[in-house]
Amino acid sequence: MPELRFDNRVVIVTGAGNGLGRSHALQFADRGARVVVNDTGGSGAGEGGDRATADRVVDEIVAAGGEAVASHDSVTEGDRIVQCALDNFGQVDVLINNAGILRDRSFHKMTEEDWDQVYNVHVKGAFRVTHAAWPHLREQQYGRVVFTASAAGIYGNFGQANYAMAKLGLHGLAQTLALEGAGRNILVNTIAPIAASRLTATIMPADMLEQLQPGFVSPLVLKLCHENHEGSGGLYEAGAGWIGALRWERSRGHGFPVEEAPTAEAIAAEWDQITNFDNADHPASGQEAITAIMANLQNRGGSRGA
Ligand SMILES: NC(=O)c1ccc[n+]([C@@H]2O[C@H](COP(=O)([O-])OP(=O)(O)OC[C@H]3O[C@@H](n4cnc5c(N)ncnc54)[C@H](O)[C@@H]3O)[C@@H](O)[C@H]2O)c1
Repeated sequence: MPELRFDNRVVIVTGAGNGLGRSHALQFADRGARVVVNDTGGSGAGEGGDRATADRVVDEIVAAGGEAVASHDSVTEGDRIVQCALDNFGQVDVLINNAGILRDRSFHKMTEEDWDQVYNVHVKGAFRVTHAAWPHLREQQYGRVVFTASAAGIYGNFGQANYAMAKLGLHGLAQTLALEGAGRNILVNTIAPIAASRLTATIMPADMLEQLQPGFVSPLVLKLCHENHEGSGGLYEAGAGWIGALRWERSRGHGFPVEEAPTAEAIAAEWDQITNFDNADHPASGQEAITAIMANLQNRGGSRGA
């Protein structure tokens, strides 16, 4: 397998001053990319700012012989980050939406501000940067975009209602952009990483964190963003060197006769069948998903049954 290189590519990594983003930026630069290292340098909850956070990573890249420039704007000012790439490198090819904050609290204690701040950075921020980059990717008929989701979004996590909402929302966005970008060679994928960082420092035991290095996740990001990569709209979990793909699974379900709406009692009577995952389907598109519903339009007098 030849080395996956990024020579002549310009990569934006948001939240690249720490943790996973820093690791992605270092690895892209090491493979020849010119990198925009974006970070506000705020706290884990998104308060304050420190320009040195992004500057330090740029210094590291330059010291290692790479090319990088710092962007200190918040992702909520996404157009400025894209402009930074254009001003310094004349183009943008790859965008890694990685910036993130936490405002963990159980739902009954969560304030509207906790909700809004997490939404603003993760969802609105990723929207703003991607929306600003999108016309350039379309015009040059090339782009690679990665969104950063989380197991909390996929499976739920106590105390993270705001974060879980934001993280699974990003996958919904990614799946749609994968469709809209397909005709112009723009691939859009989502990762759900696990790694030691200041965001996980308080929720995982120290000895486990020591082994969960961000550097074990970044190679997946590089693979998804290489010019030879083909898949789009995917969701991948990664951590500690393990990488897996996720997809939707749907039971075969039960088709009730279409002449009249099923009663709640009729649904209760078929509940075992409705929730039985034997021989489950894996619809990969909205079109595939709706086939079962459309087929049931022919189910007159219960002719199609289960
Ligand atoms: N570490 C994990 O196990 C894990 C698990 C699931 C998802 N994630 C996600 O991975 C991403 C990176 O997290 P991390 O663990 O490396 O955390 P981290 O705190 O080390 O890094 C996040 C970076 O984003 C920056 N940032 C925050 N708000 C910003 C803004 N408005 N504009 C620009 N930069 C901003 C921070 O300053 C910080 O440097 C996040 O989206 C996080 O939700 C991490």
